[in-house]
Amino acid sequence: MSDSDLLYDNQHIAFLEDIWGEGFLSPGGAEEAARVLDGIDVSGRRVLDIGCGSGAIAVMLVRDMGAASVTGIDVEDQVCAAAQARVDGAGLETAIDIRLVEPGPLPFAPDSFDIVYSKDSILHIPDKEALARDVFRVLAPGGWFAASDWLISHDGAPSPEMAAYLKAEDLDFAMASPARYRQALEAAGFGNVGLLNRNPWYRDVAADELALLSGPERERLSDAHGADFISGQIETWTAMIEVLRTGEHCPHHLRGQKPA
Ligand SMILES: C[S@@+](CC[C@H](N)C(=O)[O-])C[C@H]1O[C@@H](n2cnc3c(N)ncnc32)[C@H](O)[C@@H]1O
Repeated sequence: MSDSDLLYDNQHIAFLEDIWGEGFLSPGGAEEAARVLDGIDVSGRRVLDIGCGSGAIAVMLVRDMGAASVTGIDVEDQVCAAAQARVDGAGLETAIDIRLVEPGPLPFAPDSFDIVYSKDSILHIPDKEALARDVFRVLAPGGWFAASDWLISHDGAPSPEMAAYLKAEDLDFAMASPARYRQALEAAGFGNVGLLNRNPWYRDVAADELALLSGPERERLSDAHGADFISGQIETWTAMIEVLRTGEHCPHHLRGQKPA
């Protein structure tokens, strides 16, 4: 992949970590990342992290939650390099395997993992049904799929406001509805399927983020990341707040269990 093809290049990684915390390319930090696994015991488990980003979650899963191993996959080399540096810095190279993969089927044998985790990455994967089947395949019986993702509240065409937001993001988002996710998980064979709407949480957090971006932090962020880049991010956040306010943009936690 050439630099110009990268959606998450080093500039983007540095900016998102500035807003969301070291090693996090999605909102909520360690607390929200752990909440995705609420009630699921990670200790001693083999975890796959789909779209591992710059690695803070993989480190958290092993160091703080006791996972036996984490395989973190991502499709972007600068993201994988940042994740590998974080893993090395934490001294967890033997427990955490960061792999650059091609988009497409998961390159793992059946029953390879006890937990398949993902935080705000599946919105880059258009075929939710194929992904659900593939996650089911690589999970051991009794294993859990637990993810956070950014969803759209309905099937069909996005509203003009949502279309404007997606254009502003320019990150190839392929958002699906809660109904489509539920159906994809159930059709793949998952039981105990659950969806939790996190819009009420992120609606408020994103408003605070925009206030910081366009207010007291703007000068520092512009110095660090470039004034034009920050202006663009303020436009994106402004468009996002609009669709968070209407509920059309509805981040969810998703889960399902492969029958034992
Ligand atoms: C919003 S970031 C989230 C990263 C990380 N999970 C976190 O919460 O910090 C989305 C990540 O998904 C990755 N990604 C995009 N398409 C992917 C695919 N087909 N398979 C795996 N990862 C993908 C991106 O490169 C990016 O690192």
